Amino acid sequence: MTTATELKGKHVVIVAGGSGIGRQLAQDAVDQGALVTITGRSADAVRAVADSIQGSVATAVVDLGNEESIAELATELTRRDVVVEHLISLANAPAKGPVEKLEREAITRAFDAKVIGALLLVKHLRPVGSVTLFSGIVGWRPKPGMVVTATTNGAVAFLGQALAVELAPVRVNAVSPGIVDSGAWDGMGADRDSFFSGVAAKNPARRIGSTQDISQAVLSAITNPFLTGTVLHLDGGARLV
Ligand SMILES: NC(=O)c1ccc[n+]([C@@H]2O[C@H](COP(=O)([O-])OP(=O)(O)OC[C@H]3O[C@@H](n4cnc5c(N)ncnc54)[C@H](OP(=O)(O)O)[C@@H]3O)[C@@H](O)[C@H]2O)c1
Repeated sequence: MTTATELKGKHVVIVAGGSGIGRQLAQDAVDQGALVTITGRSADAVRAVADSIQGSVATAVVDLGNEESIAELATELTRRDVVVEHLISLANAPAKGPVEKLEREAITRAFDAKVIGALLLVKHLRPVGSVTLFSGIVGWRPKPGMVVTATTNGAVAFLGQALAVELAPVRVNAVSPGIVDSGAWDGMGADRDSFFSGVAAKNPARRIGSTQDISQAVLSAITNPFLTGTVLHLDGGARLV
C-alpha cells in the first residue's frame, strides 16, 4: 500500500503513451520527477515520442489485443526491478458506424483497447498505487454511429469502480475527457476548427480541452490518496448540455 502524494521517484507506466494526451502526461510526469515508461504498438513510433520528451523515458511495445505482449512488459519491468506505482492506459481503437455496418473484428479491437486490455494490464503489471483508465464523453452523450464507443466508455467507468473495490487499497479511477485538441481530430482537415468552435460555443466551459487540462487533472488524481472508484469528467461540462 502507498499513501504517496507526490510522483518524485515513482514509476509511472503510460500505455498508449504515443497519443497526444499520453505524450503530455509523460512530459508532465517526468517534470514532476517520476520514472516513466511509455508503451506503443510500434517500437519506432514510441521511441520517437520518447525522444521528443525532455528528460529520460523508457519505452516498450504493447498491443492490448495481444496478452503475451503485456506479459512480456511485466517480465521486463520485473527484470529492471521496477515496481509500478501508477498505471495509466489511454488506448483507444474506435469502431464507428451504424450498427448494421459494424464488423465483429472492429468491435473486438475497440473492447481490447479500452476494456479487456485494461483488465489484462492490471492482471500482469500489478500496480501498487493507482490505475487510471480512459473513458470519454460519448459514454454519457451517445450519438448515432458511436454505439461501440459509448459502450466501451461506459464499460470503462464500471470497470474502474469494480476494480477499485477488488484491488483496494490500490486506487482505480476512470477519466472521461470531452473534446480535446490532442491531435486525434487533425484528420478532419479544414473542418476541424469549425468543429472545435461549435463544441466550445455549446459547452459550459466555452472552450475545448487541451492536453495540459487533462494531464494536470490526471496527475492530481493519481497522487490524491482519497480518490478512488470514480469518474473524473474533464469535459467542460459538455455532458450537461
Ligand atoms: N481527444 C479527445 O477529444 C478525446 C475525447 C474523449 C475521450 N478521449 C480518450 O482519451 C484517450 C487519449 O486520447 P488521444 O486523443 O490523446 O489519443 P487517441 O488518438 O485516441 O490515441 C489512441 C491511442 O491508442 C492506441 N491504441 C489503439 N489500439 C491499441 C491497442 N490494441 N493496444 C495498444 N494501444 C492501442 C493508439 O496507438 P497507435 O498509435 O499504435 O495506433 C493511440 O496511441 C483515449 O482513450 C480517448 O478515447 C479523447
